Amino acid sequence: IVVNAAKSEGKVSPTMWGVFFEDINMGADGGIYAEMVKNRSFEFLKPLMGWSVQGKKIGEGDLLILNRQGANLANPRFLRAAIKGAAKGEAGMSNEGFKGGMGVKKGLKYDFSLMYRQQSPGITLHVELVDGQNKVLAAGSLKPADASGEWKSQELSFIADATAAKARMNIWFEGSGVLDMDMISLFPTDTWKGRKKGMRADMIQMLADMKPGFIRFPGGCIVEGIDLANRYQWKKTIGPIEERQLIVNRWNVEFEHRPSPDYFQTFGLGFFEYFQLAEDIGAEALPILNCGMACQFNTAEVVPLDQLDPYIQDALDLIEFANGDASTEWGKVRAGMGHAEPFNMKYLGVGNENWGPQYIERAKAFQQAIKAKYPAINLIFSSGTGPDNDEFRYLDKELRSMKADIIDEHYYRSPEWFLKNAARYDNYDRQGAKIFAGEYAAHIKGNAIGSNRNIWQAALAEAAFMTGLERNAAVVNMASYAPLFANTEGWQWAPDLIWVDNMNIYGTPNYYVQKLFSTNKGTQVSTALLDGKALSGQDGLYVSAVLDELKKEVIVKLVNTNETERTKQVNFEGIKKLAASGKLTTVKGDLTDQNSIEKPSNIVPAESMLKLKGKNAVIKMPANSFVMLKVSYK
Ligand code: AHR
Repeated sequence: IVVNAAKSEGKVSPTMWGVFFEDINMGADGGIYAEMVKNRSFEFLKPLMGWSVQGKKIGEGDLLILNRQGANLANPRFLRAAIKGAAKGEAGMSNEGFKGGMGVKKGLKYDFSLMYRQQSPGITLHVELVDGQNKVLAAGSLKPADASGEWKSQELSFIADATAAKARMNIWFEGSGVLDMDMISLFPTDTWKGRKKGMRADMIQMLADMKPGFIRFPGGCIVEGIDLANRYQWKKTIGPIEERQLIVNRWNVEFEHRPSPDYFQTFGLGFFEYFQLAEDIGAEALPILNCGMACQFNTAEVVPLDQLDPYIQDALDLIEFANGDASTEWGKVRAGMGHAEPFNMKYLGVGNENWGPQYIERAKAFQQAIKAKYPAINLIFSSGTGPDNDEFRYLDKELRSMKADIIDEHYYRSPEWFLKNAARYDNYDRQGAKIFAGEYAAHIKGNAIGSNRNIWQAALAEAAFMTGLERNAAVVNMASYAPLFANTEGWQWAPDLIWVDNMNIYGTPNYYVQKLFSTNKGTQVSTALLDGKALSGQDGLYVSAVLDELKKEVIVKLVNTNETERTKQVNFEGIKKLAASGKLTTVKGDLTDQNSIEKPSNIVPAESMLKLKGKNAVIKMPANSFVMLKVSYK
């Protein structure tokens, strides 16, 4: 195999290899958003979802959910406790946490907080975290300090002296009085960057470790919504969290493996936090907005064209929110949330998996308005659920003729499809729209469910396909596996890149494939040819090569899908001086191997050194393996 570093097949976009985040499979609420209380503001469909009432001194009417309606449209309900002479343990509430309870860690500090209004002072709150046997793991007491009758916030912190994977939180009311409560919240303090009420650090670290070129958010189908009222509206996800209006999650309603009908988007994690996250992990922010169409797999509700303006205005305002200075209306809102500097957003997606002429009409209206005001923003349009059906061909043609900057292609297909399609982009027009492989994953058919779908066979097929994406970096500028996260206790969709439970996290074989590509993406594509041809499946081999001109490294990625070990010699050309040895990274396994909570490192990359013979490297590729060689040059 001849790798010629002097022959560039194009630049690798800095945005290559990103992540696609969606609140599916408990990705946000119960996932990266570290809130431990389910239904903290009593706004779920049934106000006491997640809560139970306990104690012998609670009678009919002592605990009521009241609705202040017009006084707070975003968060109308609150809890009123009218307690008459209760001792600790006689009158209380208990919250079960998200799927499977709350994960509590020994030695870790927890922050409890609530909003309250004392109608009649006299109640002290005893908060405790208990395990399945009711053993107290952590506890503290809070006496509401304000007696003005206005809504106030108060906090309480305590340290857990034992660990439990499935704990719950009890609140006992002691004394006599009438107390209104809302936003009853519990966060661990080991959040990402130690931010108060922030994100789960182990999950974000896995993303940061990938050094992603971009983060696409907030979805997926949740952008579109079950119907238009249920669409994702970014303006309702910013500002004080008690004023963010939750909605039922579109993933609450379908799929065989859905956990229970209590999956909501509370928006404690909103657009400000997503932009901040992108900045934290060095990724370009890539928001996707609703284009005036609800999910076509649901109601397919569409806003009339003559009423599309508010949707377009949302897009214009978002750009101002991200990039405007504090003298602009929306830039001021961002600055007020603590980020005076602009986020410098460069990409914006219009619609997700929408299709038909109704999509094209709306896409054009967005394009016209946004380009007129912000010509530098790169607009991404979707080519539906394709690929390669009539609908996809129609959308692709239309989007190209309207000169879309970037087209977002999605494919959830079999491993065989991925292997057969490694050359998919070889003949794509280099001068036209760039490609965003926005959602892809190899899906194993049959009985495999849950994490069992993340077997090595799927990851290997993706690796083979990704050599084709890399080879075609001149046209493919962005790519992201989907979905990103799943909770082993409650998921709707599999396979997924990273699995978690309350206490643990592991990367799938697919994660390690993504990470190897992403952290070794280089800056220029080099040719890698056998008998003058790129390797995209001949003899079960897939090869791509890049040069990293900043780190001065040449990197070759090889995938062997044969059942037998193969040996190939790689000759490096177009490089003056190569190091005497390189770093070889190998990922291999049986096709059915997978990682799990119990065995998180069953399939992980292994590193070794490989001595070169002058400018040649002899590379052994085990059966069904992904091998990467990285050599420094001068
Ligand atoms: O990734 C899961 C879903 O797949 C996304 O929400 C949607 O865009 C696609 O259909």
